[in-house]
Amino acid sequence: APSDPDLVERARAAKAKLGDKVFVLGHHYQRDEVIEFADVTGDSFKLARDAAARPDAEYIVFCGVHFMAESADILTTSDQQVVLPDLAAGCSMADMATAEQVAECWDVLTEAGIADVTVPVSYMNSSADIKAFTGKHGGTICTSSNAERALNWAFEQGEKVLFLPDQHLGRNTAVRDMGMSLDDCVLYNPHKPNGGLTVEELRAAKMILWRGHCSVHGRFSLDSVNDVRERIPGVNVLVHPECRHEVVAAADYVGSTEYIIKTLEAAPAGSKWAIGTELNLVRRLANRFAGEGKEIVFLDKTVCFCSTMNRIDLPHLVWALESLAAGKVVNRIEVDPEVASFSKLALERMLALP
Ligand code: 13P
Ligand code: SF4
Repeated sequence: APSDPDLVERARAAKAKLGDKVFVLGHHYQRDEVIEFADVTGDSFKLARDAAARPDAEYIVFCGVHFMAESADILTTSDQQVVLPDLAAGCSMADMATAEQVAECWDVLTEAGIADVTVPVSYMNSSADIKAFTGKHGGTICTSSNAERALNWAFEQGEKVLFLPDQHLGRNTAVRDMGMSLDDCVLYNPHKPNGGLTVEELRAAKMILWRGHCSVHGRFSLDSVNDVRERIPGVNVLVHPECRHEVVAAADYVGSTEYIIKTLEAAPAGSKWAIGTELNLVRRLANRFAGEGKEIVFLDKTVCFCSTMNRIDLPHLVWALESLAAGKVVNRIEVDPEVASFSKLALERMLALP
């Protein structure tokens, strides 16, 4: 539906009043009505890097989810204030690894005598507490655009990797990109004693994958890929690495949201694409490229918005901007300084990856 013209006008006016004081970042999964007001858009990696691009801006309005706003707070100066327009915009995957569970897992690895040779690699989609754990134990953060480089780095530091919290990104990177076998990976279930693994299984594994997943990307199946190939002969299947392993193995191209956009920009006219990622982005790309004769469809007919990304809508953005313009900071995301310092260590290792 087209945006309410009154709200569009109010967002414009509040942003104009704030001028250089505000910097608005928008993840690619955000609604069109929100993306319209973003100063920069990007995947998780680009937004982490860009967050620090405007040290003069007093306020950073983060249109994305909670862990992204936390990372922006960690990576910007202490006088800059990060605002998340709706505090209910979390991420179900990030919630699948709590600090207590991860500390318990580390105890299990210590008991098994392998903690010394294990390097934690945590996906950006995790809480600041998990990033701090990662930094404290010599590990790095990664995103879907640098997971292979992060794992290569980690295997130079140790013999094993504890990959948190997305089992699919961990498995897909290890097996599809790095030539490991499925048997090199074990799945640690935080709800079972010892993660549901024997000491022998832990000692034999190269990749210890946390049992977390994205509820949106987890809905694409091998059937979705087979059906679309039957329906649209010659279609290119392009999916996000948060999809299940069998989906990624059957796809033609795999990458982050930024990679998906770049791939479609470079695609020739007349090409056909089925995209396995969040629906706001797929719709925006289908509309954008329709005029260039590139046919873009959603990989599965099941509606697949990320419900928490969608919490940030124009009314929330207007409220945040108007509050800031009136001198009132709302929904500030502020990470505890000690947690922030260890998280920063892990984030900076990622930013320094070759
Ligand atoms: P990227 O934008 O880094 O590909 O991440 C996708 C995602 O799920 C963010 O929550
Ligand atoms: Fe989290 Fe998945 Fe939504 Fe990304 S798409 S914010 S991983 S639930």
